[in-house]
This record gives sequence, C-alpha cells and structure tokens, in this order.
Amino acid sequence: MGCLKLLVLMLLMNSQVNCDPEDINMGSARNIHSSLKRDVSPCSNFWAYACGNWQRGHFVDNFEIVEDKYAHEMERLLRGMESNELEMAPRLVQQMQNYFAACSRQEHLHPKMENYLQELPRDVVTTLSSEINYKWELVTATLRKFGLNGVYFTELADVAFNDSLVHVAQIRMPPQHAYFQSKFKILDHMLEFGLFQSISRAEHRIAEDLYGLDLQLNNLSAKHRSAEPVVFAWSLNDLKIQIPQIDWQTYFNELLGTDEAPSNLRVEVSDVEYLRELGALLTRYSNAHMLKVYLLMRLCRFVSEASPPDLAPATCVHHMLALLPLGMNYIYDRYVYKTREQDTRLLADIFEALRTTFRNYLQVNRLELTRTHLTYVRAKLDAMQLKLGNLPAETEPAFYDNYYGSANFTDSTFYHNYWQALRLRTFLQHQPLLQQDAKMQLNRYYVNDDVFKARSAPYFEHERNTLTIPLIFLQLPFFDQQQHPIFQQSLIGFILAHEINHAFEQEGILYNALGNETPMGLEIREQRSFKSALECAQQSPTSSLKERLADINGLQLAYDAFFGIGSASEQYEYRPYAFENEFLAPQLFYLNFAQFFCGKLPPAIAHDADDVRVNVAVDNMRQFVRDFNCTSSEQPQPPKCEMWRPR
Ligand SMILES: *[C@@H]1O[C@H](CO)[C@@H](O)[C@H](O)[C@H]1NC(C)=O
Ligand SMILES: *[C@@H]1O[C@H](CO)[C@@H](O)[C@H](O)[C@H]1NC(C)=O
Ligand SMILES: *[C@@H]1O[C@H](CO)[C@@H](O)[C@H](O)[C@H]1NC(C)=O
Ligand SMILES: *[C@@H]1O[C@H](CO)[C@@H](O)[C@H](O)[C@H]1NC(C)=O
Ligand SMILES: [Zn+2]
Repeated sequence: MGCLKLLVLMLLMNSQVNCDPEDINMGSARNIHSSLKRDVSPCSNFWAYACGNWQRGHFVDNFEIVEDKYAHEMERLLRGMESNELEMAPRLVQQMQNYFAACSRQEHLHPKMENYLQELPRDVVTTLSSEINYKWELVTATLRKFGLNGVYFTELADVAFNDSLVHVAQIRMPPQHAYFQSKFKILDHMLEFGLFQSISRAEHRIAEDLYGLDLQLNNLSAKHRSAEPVVFAWSLNDLKIQIPQIDWQTYFNELLGTDEAPSNLRVEVSDVEYLRELGALLTRYSNAHMLKVYLLMRLCRFVSEASPPDLAPATCVHHMLALLPLGMNYIYDRYVYKTREQDTRLLADIFEALRTTFRNYLQVNRLELTRTHLTYVRAKLDAMQLKLGNLPAETEPAFYDNYYGSANFTDSTFYHNYWQALRLRTFLQHQPLLQQDAKMQLNRYYVNDDVFKARSAPYFEHERNTLTIPLIFLQLPFFDQQQHPIFQQSLIGFILAHEINHAFEQEGILYNALGNETPMGLEIREQRSFKSALECAQQSPTSSLKERLADINGLQLAYDAFFGIGSASEQYEYRPYAFENEFLAPQLFYLNFAQFFCGKLPPAIAHDADDVRVNVAVDNMRQFVRDFNCTSSEQPQPPKCEMWRPR
C-alpha cells in the first residue's frame, strides 16, 4: 500500500473516531447494511436476514469487541501511569499495577501443584498436608477461604431471603460435576497436576479409591437433589442441633477467622438430608490420606479452571476484573470513562420512559390482578434503581485506597497474588457476618460474586431491586450518547426493558420492592392469567423460560415506549433519516435490535441461542408482520404471547 493511500486511510479512520452525530449514525446504519443477508426473507428467519453477513474481524460476537476495547484501555493504565495522574487512590492503583505486572509476566500456564502450593501461607500448607487427626471440616473451610467451594457442600455469604439488609451464610449441596469420570481419568489428572512422577500399582489403587469416593458423593447429591429445595432459616446453634453429623463450629471458626463463631450467626440451609448423610459418610471414612488427596485434586481442578488461560495482557485484565471488581471498576471510572454525566442523564430518560410505559400497561391490568397485587407490582416498579457501573455510592477516595489494604501483591509472583486476591475476596464477602445485627451498608455495596468471568452485560439484582449496567457496556457497538434515539431505544432500550421484565417474571415476581421474598409474590404467580402467560411462552422449547419472557416482553416494552402503545408505527414520521434511506423507522428498530445478537453463534449459556432469541422475540411482536409487510404464508401466525401489554 502506498504511503499516500495509507495516510488517507488513517485520516478516514481518524475522522471516524472524532465523529460528529451524523457520522456515528452513518456508521450504525452501515453496520446494519453490511450484516444483511438479502436472499433470506426477514419474515421467515429474521436473525438470518439481519445477521447473515456479519463479519467483523475475528470477533465471535459483539461482546468480544467491547471487551477488547476495555482491555486495551486498562492495559495502558495498568502498565504504569504518570505519577501526576495518580492523584486519587494511589495505593490502590499501585496494587492493581503490581497484580497486572506479575500476571502478564509469570509462567503459570500449566500449573503444577508445587508451583502454586508453595505460594500458599505456610500454616495453610501444614493444615492441608497433615493426616494426623484429620478434620475434613477444618480443611474444607481453609480452602474455602482461598476460593475453593462446592466440594462437599456449597457455602455462600448472602442476604436473608426475607430481609435483604441482613447478612446470612447459605449452605446447600454442591452442583453436579463430572471431573473424574473414570479411574484412568483420575490417573491422567494426577500426572497433569504433578501429584505423581510415575504411575505404579500404588497409584492405581489410590485412583480407584478416589473414583469410588467421588462416585459416592455424586450418588448422594443425585439422591437428594430437588428443583425447589426447602430452605431453613437457622442460627448456627440450630444448625449444630439439626445437623450434628458435621462439626459446624470448627468450619465457621476457620472460615471467619475467629476463635468462636457466634452461636446466633444466621444461616440458611437447604438439602438438610443430604448434609446429614454427607457428615455421616465422611466421618465413617477412615482413610485420611484419601480425603487429603481428593481435596488436593479438587483444588488443582479449581486452580486450572480459575487461572487466566494465557499470559496475554487482555486475559490478565479480564481475570482481574472478575477477581478484583472494585479496584478495576474504580480505575476505569476514574481514569477512562469520560461521559458519566451525560450517559447518566440519557439512560435515566430511557429507563423512565420504559417505566412510564409499564405503568400504563398496569392501568389496563391485563392479568386482572387485585388492587393489592397491583399495588405490589407498582411499588416494585417505582422503587427500582438504575446504576451505571458496579461501584459503591461511597465517594471518599480514602475508602477505595484502603479497601484492599489487607492484600499484599508483588509485581513478580503470580500465584502469590492469586491466593491473596482469592483470600481477600472471601474475606470481604464474609466480614459482615461477624458483625451480628449490623445491617448492610448500602453506600458501600457492590456486587462481589464468586465468579471467574466478569459480567459485561447489564443485570438485574432481585435483592437490591436494581438494574446495573457495567461501564464496559457503555460504548459502541452497544451505546453512544450521540446516537440517534432509534438506535439507542432499539438496543440499550431493549436491554433495559429486558432487565426490567426480569423483575416481573416467575422468579423475579417473588421479590417485593425492597428485595424481600414475601407470600404476595407467590400469590400473583399462582394467578391463572399469570400462569397462562408462562404457558404461551413455552409453546416452543426453551432453555430458560425467564430469559424468554424477558426477551419477548422486553422487545414489546421497548417498542411501545418508542412508538407509543398501540401506535400505527408505519406512519411514524421519521422517514427519511439523513443516515438511512431504505428502511422505515420500525424496520430499523428491529434490525438494530438484532445487531446485538449478530455473531458466530457461540454456544448458548443459560439462554437460548442468539438466532432463536431474535426470532422468537419478533415472532411474538404483533406489529412485526405489518412492519415488514409479511404475507401470511411467510410468517406463521401462532397466538402472540403478551403478558402485561394491553391487547
Ligand atoms: C424472616 O424469617 C425468619 C425465619 O423464618 C424470621 O425469624 C424473621 O422474623 C423473618 N423476618 C422478617 C423481616 O420477616
Ligand atoms: C452409584 O449409583 C449407581 C447408579 O445408581 C450405582 O450403580 C452405584 O453402585 C452407586 N455407587 C456407589 C459407590 O454408591
Ligand atoms: C508482602 O509479601 C512479600 C513477598 O512475599 C513479603 O516479602 C513482604 O514482607 C510482605 N509484606 C507485608 C506487609 O506483608
Ligand atoms: C407491501 O406489499 C404490498 C403488496 O406486495 C406493496 O404494494 C406495498 O408497497 C408494500 N409496502 C411496503 C411498505 O413495502
Ligand atoms: Zn436476562
């Protein structure tokens, strides 16, 4: 390529970066057009029509695009800022820079047990390796502090089901797993993790015993697994009486790092019969060596799953975002994100328009709810919060600077930092449990889950009645404050409408305005009209009914908020747009909605596949047939599923 040509190209790209409103909309329209596959009819397979030609570099989906942008910005900062830029929370920034430096430097690709065990504190290693007076509760709690959960049971620091300001520890059976499918698989793992150098007859015997133990545990949980287990709200004292087969005092003393966990510590326990049998099984199990090796194997699994899969700087950024969300979000917010004020205003407007439309739905009361039930739903809608970024309301820089104070990150040893970060996370989650009767400090609240992949998409938290948009999401191709309202409403407007509808599907409805589960939510769910709305959405199979409801009702809500309830969208006076002369406003609305789902159809997790989601949502949109001028042979006409929307 000639120099001049290159220069012209750079100028062009540059002008796209500093785009005025016109350019941004041109760009969005161009993306829509370039994704179109025109030999497919929009009426028969809308996703294939809207996304059939999607190809943007190597990206699998739109999230990869924003995640790459995010990583690029954060990498620059984490590699070292000018010291005069560090006026706020310098210690926090230094800690995060150290973590990043060690992460992108260390050889930690294929962890051998010795590599990371030697970075655990000395007393922890002693506890793990001792077989004399082996106490499985103690070892389980020790490893829980460093993130390993769900081996014998799952423990989580959460809030009470009926009082979302009260802290509780939840205990339940572990999720099903299939790590050790055969004796030979176990031998493979033992070699991979470096537990043994060679395999002799002794190792075969160990593998056989481990396999037997794992099978017993899986059998036990399979025997007691139920779809909606009963949850008991107990004190630690109750727990000790109800399930004496397990030494809970030892477990909680170790987990909470205290000499005597308070007897009125609040716990919520499910799968009680499972836990009783588990305690009996493990107490009976006299082979301490086997229990030790089993736990170490599970620890190895955990480390190899949770460590960053490669040393690429972007991988380290995302690893850190999941593990140290407060620090990463603070730095991004403080030093990268520049449009908080304008975005806050704009998104509040969109959110408000959606809620107003939902309130208007409720006036019509399609589900024929009683007055009390309507008041419950309205109160929940009114109290709902919108939050930009997963950050506390706290504004004191000192709060952020001290928050990770107990962690000691070096700039050279990844596994040292890794354990520190995991220990810190569990500590921060559990710390409030020790302050009995202390209510949740809402100004310091942020989501600090046990996750290894940070959330990039907006999410709704039932306990807080809050919709959070991660800051990473607030950039193109998803959102820009300069975009035309039709692009904003059809994409982020749809996403917000989807999340709002999560508050009112079959699980969300159980939580009231304050985020507490009450009998009234259950009463509403038992209404015949509510149930038949659920049945309608299940006419074709779905991997998640609540996600499907949020999609169908969300698209309708976003559409109505923009075009008006029952409006004649074909007469919408937006044509011609300066940036679009082929599609009418409602057509552009669906096309831009579909853009969110364009990509290479990655495996669907907890949702239906993207093509199914788009097609089901538009199939249930009454106006779609008219908006795309479909003939009845092209678009089958099953009854449209609508829930809150007036007929
Ligand atoms: C929540 O449930 C527990 C246990 O059933 C009960 O003791 C407590 O009073 C309830 N709290 C509220 C606020 O209803
Ligand atoms: C586990 O369950 C399977 C199938 O139900 C059974 O064949 C097997 O004997 C059980 N194993 C143990 C160790 O309980
Ligand atoms: C932090 O860790 C390093 C390396 O393990 C150690 O040398 C240092 O003493 C620790 N500092 C604190 C304050 O714990
Ligand atoms: C819809 O289809 C009819 C008949 O094929 C055609 O006359 C009309 O122009 C079409 N309208 C639009 C908006 O495409
Ligand atoms: Zn959802």
